[in-house]
Amino acid sequence: MPDLRYGIVGGGFISEFQLRALASVRGIEVAALTSRSRPERLAAHARAAGLGDAVIYDSVEAMAHHVDVVCLFGPNFARIDHMEQLAAAVHGGAELRGVICEKPLARNLPEARRVLELAREVGAPTAYFENQIHMKMLQNAKAQLAGVIAAMGPLTLARSGEEHAGPHNAWFWDPTQQGGGVLSDMGCHCLAVGWYLLTPPDKPPRFLEPVSVSADVALLKWGQPRYRDELLERHGVDYAATPAEDFATGMVTYRNPDTDQRVKAQFTVSWMYDKQGLRLLVDGLGPGYALEANTLRSPLEVFVGDAAAASVANAELALEKATASQGLLAVQPNEPDLYGYTDENVDARDAFVAGRSALLDFEYGYEIVRLTMAAYLSAERGAVVDLTDPATLAALDEYVPLIQQGRGAETL
Ligand SMILES: NC(=O)c1ccc[n+]([C@@H]2O[C@H](COP(=O)([O-])OP(=O)(O)OC[C@H]3O[C@@H](n4cnc5c(N)ncnc54)[C@H](O)[C@@H]3O)[C@@H](O)[C@H]2O)c1
Repeated sequence: MPDLRYGIVGGGFISEFQLRALASVRGIEVAALTSRSRPERLAAHARAAGLGDAVIYDSVEAMAHHVDVVCLFGPNFARIDHMEQLAAAVHGGAELRGVICEKPLARNLPEARRVLELAREVGAPTAYFENQIHMKMLQNAKAQLAGVIAAMGPLTLARSGEEHAGPHNAWFWDPTQQGGGVLSDMGCHCLAVGWYLLTPPDKPPRFLEPVSVSADVALLKWGQPRYRDELLERHGVDYAATPAEDFATGMVTYRNPDTDQRVKAQFTVSWMYDKQGLRLLVDGLGPGYALEANTLRSPLEVFVGDAAAASVANAELALEKATASQGLLAVQPNEPDLYGYTDENVDARDAFVAGRSALLDFEYGYEIVRLTMAAYLSAERGAVVDLTDPATLAALDEYVPLIQQGRGAETL
């Protein structure tokens, strides 16, 4: 198989995770990197792992001339700038075989439309990286249940949760930079998982039509004075002035266009989950069958007693966002594979080599932004948002949530 040369934008958390995933994927070479500050450590890691030359460039535009695929793994607020640089590179002669964008595609629909417009200018196939759809446990569950679903009827209820104790970098906490709080950051995962799980196995990811969204958002932990002070000290973000939600839950109703059947997906996300670390919890119920997955369950348990705890260097060796390094620890030996990062790269590789977009393309990412915005609107209005109403859809097109505007104090 010919190698695809990746050029990675952003030298932070997700880029490092993706490099770990790429160690298990054939046919992809990490040819180049670019980031705001030179990603020397990441480049050294890529070279040491034999992933590629990992040449560092000063800009996205410069890098695009030396790679086949550009991976937008920078912060949410930089998406449009990075896409504009890609479009400029293509106008200047760069030839790309694919563009990958991490979740979320954008912070709101006006920005997402601009990303789509620029993607059309770039003209290459796209991949929207929603890793959780690619998780082996979800793919296996759907494959295992395909016969049962055909015989008994589709899943009628999906529940998806993602929770941890809070993000690792200041810009995630700043709603104006990130796009909101945990609903913007992690709601996009759960909205995608619910939609995908309910979709009959032989249908494409956007087959089911979103009908309505209801949601509730709240600031349950990080708005309390003690934790607000901690946030200000640790990240320089002031939740007294510009708060964001640390908890969100809601329900999306979908319609099957072939049968008119209504099915529902419930989502729950939080940044106040003070337990072992990141937990993805998914279940699905159909007539006469069910599935359930919980990433905190591992065949491997490690126990570190008080006497031994001083020698533990890094809690996150056990699990992403781990908050404890002693006691009974849940340890996941291959998190990039567990969370779907490995398989989303395999899917993108196969698609780009064949000259087409991945299972989830930028248009799919756009629909996830729409669902996220509908959830914010529902929480702001305290009402169910009807996605079949043209006036509501028009309002969503221009909508920027109060929290994202830095006016969260008016609504939380
Ligand atoms: N799929 C997932 O589960 C998952 C997990 C984490 C992050 N993400 C997504 O990945 C993206 C990056 O998140 P992260 O956790 O790596 O953030 P991060 O803060 O750890 O890293 C961001 C990197 O981008 C660089 N950067 C900042 N501004 C830049 C600019 N204008 N141009 C180029 N580089 C710039 C920073 O120096 C840093 O190296 C976000 O969109 C986030 O939503 C996805």
